[in-house]
Amino acid sequence: MRAHIVLAHPEPASYNAHLAATAQRVLAEQGWTVTVSDLYAMGFDPCEAARHFVHPNDPNRFDAQSEQRHASANHTLPNHVADEIARLDQSDLVILQYPMWWHMPPAILKGWFDRVFAYGEIYTSRMRFENGRFKGKRAMLSVTVGTSEATYAYNGRSGDIDLMLWPVNFNLAYVGFDVVKPFVAYGVESGIRYSDPETIEARLRDIVVDWSRALQTIGERPNVPFNRMAEWGEDGRIISTAPSYSPFMRHQP
Ligand SMILES: Cc1cc2nc3c(=O)[nH]c(=O)nc-3n(C[C@H](O)[C@H](O)[C@H](O)COP(=O)(O)O)c2cc1C
Repeated sequence: MRAHIVLAHPEPASYNAHLAATAQRVLAEQGWTVTVSDLYAMGFDPCEAARHFVHPNDPNRFDAQSEQRHASANHTLPNHVADEIARLDQSDLVILQYPMWWHMPPAILKGWFDRVFAYGEIYTSRMRFENGRFKGKRAMLSVTVGTSEATYAYNGRSGDIDLMLWPVNFNLAYVGFDVVKPFVAYGVESGIRYSDPETIEARLRDIVVDWSRALQTIGERPNVPFNRMAEWGEDGRIISTAPSYSPFMRHQP
């Protein structure tokens, strides 16, 4: 079994880097072969742009999807994008490790989606969801947040964590992954401190224990449900008999 960890944090001594290293160690102990893409260390450029396409379809006007499709068809995607796709192809499990920044992933990870999930190569209108490139593989978010679990409850001031993470999970489902229930590390107070240092230290130690256990039992961890292609009608709306799994796709406005 192979796992691939994508780490999106600029500081090698960060708690996020520590969680990525923990995952690497715990999975290896369980017999997994683990690869890591440390996006900052790799100098990954998250900005999709014309400069990445050396044999452009249209040198006069850059259109990201057209160029991605052209490069996919001609096997001219940038090497580091093709390498990352190869790591995903080889993996049974993908873990995205990142801190919540402004209620979203850091820009470098958003750009990883923009560039690595290339149109043509990774998705087309026929190659999506249960027909997606990565069907049969699992993917999971491991996210650190600065505030408490209560603030991420359905009525919390940070926003319902299930809804906050839904769009990122949806990207994974879109390209065919089975999406594993995310692991959220709450109260990872770094720059802004609400608690005393001993409390924070004890909390961070407990999180590593929980994370290790989650990885040791990854096979039993539930998936986040998403609708299947057949559950959307001709008009692109959910059909009346299909289940609704999230307020993002619901039967009533
Ligand atoms: C630019 C930036 C934006 C942040 N936005 C949020 C946020 O929206 N919600 C939150 O809970 N924490 C937020 N934080 C706090 C980080 O999530 C927290 O510091 C991080 O998860 C700690 O992990 P680290 O020690 O590995 O950096 C933000 C931090 C930064 C630097």
